[in-house]
Amino acid sequence: MTDSKRIVLSSDHAAIPLRLVIADHIAAQGWDVVDIGPTTPESTHYPKHGEAAARQVAAGDCQFGIILCGTGQGIMMAANKVKGIRCGVCVDTFSARMIRQHNDANMMSLGARVVGEGLALDIVDAFLNTRFEGGRHATRVDMIDALEG
Ligand code: RB5
Repeated sequence: MTDSKRIVLSSDHAAIPLRLVIADHIAAQGWDVVDIGPTTPESTHYPKHGEAAARQVAAGDCQFGIILCGTGQGIMMAANKVKGIRCGVCVDTFSARMIRQHNDANMMSLGARVVGEGLALDIVDAFLNTRFEGGRHATRVDMIDALEG
């Protein structure tokens, strides 16, 4: 984990209020938050928002990304199509810690229709405050990345 503390946030229409709460929460912790919207509630397409956030992480402009949609699933699937992205959906704090510790996840996805605000913030904290363990897990992460060709 580097110390850049720059993080990109994105969502579809289903998760705008939760995304804004998360943005405030992590900004208060000193993160430089790059919130790329959307800002208006019209129905939109989660793949383009997942991709936009993923591109910033893949390019190294942001250390991490947090993305949200109704379930967290569709936007996660889109983000994981971008080379270099390892994104997991989290509905619990254990998984949020483990995707950092074992999988070196650089993005996390949340479902605004799945988790409440309090749990979502705990999940975000667990993700951002856990370091990658390396060692045998680095071998496995390399194997994941090798699948990208
Ligand atoms: C939008 O209705 C919904 O399909 C989307 O937010 C997400 O849950 C898709 O995975």
